[in-house]
Amino acid sequence: MSDDAPREEGARRGLTRRSLFKGAGAAAAAGAVFRSLDASAKDDVPAGPRTQGPGKAKLTLQVNGQSREVQAEPRETLLEVLRLPLDLTGAKPVCNRGQCGACTVWLDGTPVYACSVLAVEAEGRKVTTVEGLGNPDDMHAVQSAFVEKDALQCGFCTSGLVMSAAWAVGKHGPDLSEEQARAACSGNLCRCGTYPHVVEAAIAAAKTAKKGG
Ligand code: FES
Ligand code: FES
Repeated sequence: MSDDAPREEGARRGLTRRSLFKGAGAAAAAGAVFRSLDASAKDDVPAGPRTQGPGKAKLTLQVNGQSREVQAEPRETLLEVLRLPLDLTGAKPVCNRGQCGACTVWLDGTPVYACSVLAVEAEGRKVTTVEGLGNPDDMHAVQSAFVEKDALQCGFCTSGLVMSAAWAVGKHGPDLSEEQARAACSGNLCRCGTYPHVVEAAIAAAKTAKKGG
């Protein structure tokens, strides 16, 4: 896996937000067709793949080590479901189109843009948000380092950068180089220009970390 994880994940899955929504629309249409056939000629419809939508359906997500049940439409993104109804507002909707990284969370341990993943796609996978890394009383080493190294200004990008930096620290441990830290955070934009301090914070946190931890 390269250090450019969020964009790599999107490329690997061959998904754009537009294609995701197209897919969701097709699934919704398929569901509607299925239901109309179901109503008129129930016995003639062969058993097919399970469809859901276009209305809300039950979804069980594994978020920060907890099983969370939500009602969500198939078109809703992971970011939308995390923020409302789950009230995990650390991941930010800034561009909402896979360009800025403010919504970065981990999916099965890999950074992804939560605005570009459908909530239904996250079912059965491990979701980690910035709230799952630590809290003000018990911060993750990267969160503490961001405070110590003054790696934030307005804060809009910060939770996304923390998730990318923490991923790099976990992957490389004390061996994390500046180049690797920069590459890991290259999918996160900061209009306040905190990049040098972010890299400094990642390197400082890495010195206290175990590789793969
Ligand atoms: S809000 Fe998701 S990448 Fe910008
Ligand atoms: S701290 Fe303001 S956008 Fe990064």
